[in-house]
Amino acid sequence: MNIILLGPPGAGKGTQARILVEGRGMIQLSTGDMLREARTSGTEMGNKVAAIMDAGELVTDEIVIGLIEEKLEGDHGGGFIFDGFPRTLAQADALGALLKKHDAKLDAVVEMRVDDNALVQRITARSTCGNCGEVYNDITKPIPADGKCESCGGNEFKRRADDNEESLKTRLMEYYKKTSPLIGYYYHAGALKPVNGLGEIEEVAAEISEALGG
Ligand code: AP5
Repeated sequence: MNIILLGPPGAGKGTQARILVEGRGMIQLSTGDMLREARTSGTEMGNKVAAIMDAGELVTDEIVIGLIEEKLEGDHGGGFIFDGFPRTLAQADALGALLKKHDAKLDAVVEMRVDDNALVQRITARSTCGNCGEVYNDITKPIPADGKCESCGGNEFKRRADDNEESLKTRLMEYYKKTSPLIGYYYHAGALKPVNGLGEIEEVAAEISEALGG
């Protein structure tokens, strides 16, 4: 099964992708994670990507499509979760063509609906484990009292450079201008499965599971 998790910054795409990976053996393809890795390369391209991400703008279609293309050449496991990709109509067209090339299809596009106030609260309170990437939140999912990651036992936690109110404003604008047209695109393709992303993490996971047919 190949699915897209579609939603604004902070909707819970990464959190739910990790649950799907654990429960269904799917492979998470997060373009955000891939770009964060690329920016540490110290190359001219890495530095350009870093500046764009910190400002909250979208990296070029060419770069992100290239990243996804590479990953689709590898193991397809229990299917792919596209997390944060596609984000533009050009990326959606490219994904369709790439899946076709690999004799694969898109089974569902899960649209995670969360209102803007909740997004600001979630993003500004987020941290992740520096070792395994487990996602935490100062309010809704605090780092355990012993200071160790519940998933890997690591004790270093990071905050993202773009997790501030200023960058978030731009990220939301980019989402509404360039990514939200994909809701109509996938609705017309008959693939759209809207879920309420405002519940508890486990409730959202249950809704997604139901949307995917249990
Ligand atoms: P990316 O890394 O994809 O960031 P994003 O889309 O802004 O999404 P986030 O990772 O911020 O949020 P999320 O939905 O995964 O939420 P999470 O689960 O962490 O992209 C970053 C940048 O890279 C972009 O701005 C762009 O520059 C570039 N980029 C990436 N892909 C690109 C593309 N395709 N094209 C061009 N540029 C691209 O949850 C957030 C917080 O909320 C956490 O603290 C979590 O614990 C908490 N939380 C989660 N679920 C719940 C819940 N149900 N209730 C309460 N709290 C919850």
